[in-house]
Amino acid sequence: MRAGTTWSEYLTSFHSDRAGITEDVLAAATAGGVTPYEWLCEPLREVSSLVLDIACGSGPMRRPLGDVDWVGIDMSANELGRAALGGTGPLVQADAARLPIATAAVGAAVCSMALMLVEPFDAVLSEVARVLAPGGVFVATIPVERPLRMSDRLRYLRLFAALRVARLDYPNRAELTDPRERLARHGLVVVSDERRRFSYAIADSAAAETLVRSLYLPGVADDRVDTGVRVARRWRCDIGLPLRRIICRRATPA
Ligand SMILES: C[S@@+](CC[C@H](N)C(=O)[O-])C[C@H]1O[C@@H](n2cnc3c(N)ncnc32)[C@H](O)[C@@H]1O
Repeated sequence: MRAGTTWSEYLTSFHSDRAGITEDVLAAATAGGVTPYEWLCEPLREVSSLVLDIACGSGPMRRPLGDVDWVGIDMSANELGRAALGGTGPLVQADAARLPIATAAVGAAVCSMALMLVEPFDAVLSEVARVLAPGGVFVATIPVERPLRMSDRLRYLRLFAALRVARLDYPNRAELTDPRERLARHGLVVVSDERRRFSYAIADSAAAETLVRSLYLPGVADDRVDTGVRVARRWRCDIGLPLRRIICRRATPA
């Protein structure tokens, strides 16, 4: 992050310049033949009501959700533009902390790879709980540091050394270490919390560059990122992407 740049400014510029890059990586990653987006949808097979996709980005959740009513919300015009180009909709440009959705209007909400960065965290959780009908489901995926194989760890060590970062960091990292109590305060009861290693094939230079450029690296100078890309371009392998899926149910008022 350049001096004087906030996370919010960094995010805005990242998604304006690289709309759809998260989808480019995750739609190409699998674990047991399932992509992270399909994994996120699994708990929603029985849902027939409206599904709200919070921080939907380029809209990769739309297709795996199948034949349900869906609405995607994101604050980035360019991400929504890429979703619209792919024929995905309806889409609304809005802040997750101020959802333009009526109270208890949705039976399910999803949030792929954004809960770790949406701010203010409590305002977003409060909005998720407000728009969910009692008994409704909220499913989120976030990036984590395990499970990884030893070979993955060694590659990430090399990459992070080239980037001169100790790890990838996010505004809500501490809050998500053990989020049960925080979620419960908002009436969201955790019913499942799992991790899975997805495999991303670095088959060519383009795949390597996409992976490195998809990482949030605030404060890392452009030439360092270029060095990281050069390191990853030497790899011809699968690399692990460890993800965590948290499933919550909206408590029913007593
Ligand atoms: C890593 S991307 C994930 C996009 C998509 N869900 C996916 O998995 O491919 C994070 C997304 O969060 C969006 N975002 C971040 N903060 C937000 C907020 N407060 N309200 C709405 N969208 C937000 C960004 O614009 C970006 O599209």
